[in-house]
Amino acid sequence: MDVFEAMETCRAIRYLKPDPVPEALIEKVIHGATRASSPGNSQGWDFVVVTDRDVKQRLADAIAPVVGMNAAALDSPGVSEGERRMIRGALHLASHLADVPVLIVCCARKIYPPQDPQELFVWSAVYPASQNLIVAARALGLGTTFTTFHAVAEEAFRSILGIPDEVFIGTTVALGYPDRPFGPVRRRPVAEVIHRDRW
Ligand SMILES: Cc1cc2nc3c(=O)[nH]c(=O)nc-3n(C[C@H](O)[C@H](O)[C@H](O)COP(=O)(O)O)c2cc1C
Repeated sequence: MDVFEAMETCRAIRYLKPDPVPEALIEKVIHGATRASSPGNSQGWDFVVVTDRDVKQRLADAIAPVVGMNAAALDSPGVSEGERRMIRGALHLASHLADVPVLIVCCARKIYPPQDPQELFVWSAVYPASQNLIVAARALGLGTTFTTFHAVAEEAFRSILGIPDEVFIGTTVALGYPDRPFGPVRRRPVAEVIHRDRW
């Protein structure tokens, strides 16, 4: 698939089929992730791939109290129909986390620059890798959602997955075959965001 078509249709897919994803495809999307740029090519990333139902259930249980609290957002005044659809999707994904075929927890270590490592460069590595991962998945016909679900239960995620204290968790990507159609994404037009020669 043409890379522009993949980016154009790489919508967050929050409804996934239960079908398992072949191991070769999981490795292929992680291969894509690890082709990303990183500061000084430091490549401080690591990926925890979770397919074990029991482990996914424990992660789902860890975020469940917060999912319940966020459900109230659906009834907030001033929420547009589009936002409501997104919140509904996000709540669906969060409350069906154990059914998501693959959860990829994208992590990174604070290793750059070697003489004085900075947290800024942790995120500079993990986000390009996560974006490459979701575009690679799209090209393979796999749906993803970029999430920060770990952030609401970080200690539980660390302990369930055995992630060391010095490792940062960047994103938790849900991956599987889509149960809803891909894209197109809705984004601000280029003419609105481009500044030529000066702001
Ligand atoms: C850093 C980051 C965190 C996100 N966290 C969540 C999340 O926790 N739950 C969720 O359902 N979507 C999450 N998203 C997905 C965005 O909500 C989604 O990409 C955005 O609304 C645009 O929709 P689209 O990708 O379908 O076009 C996240 C995206 C990014 C980049």
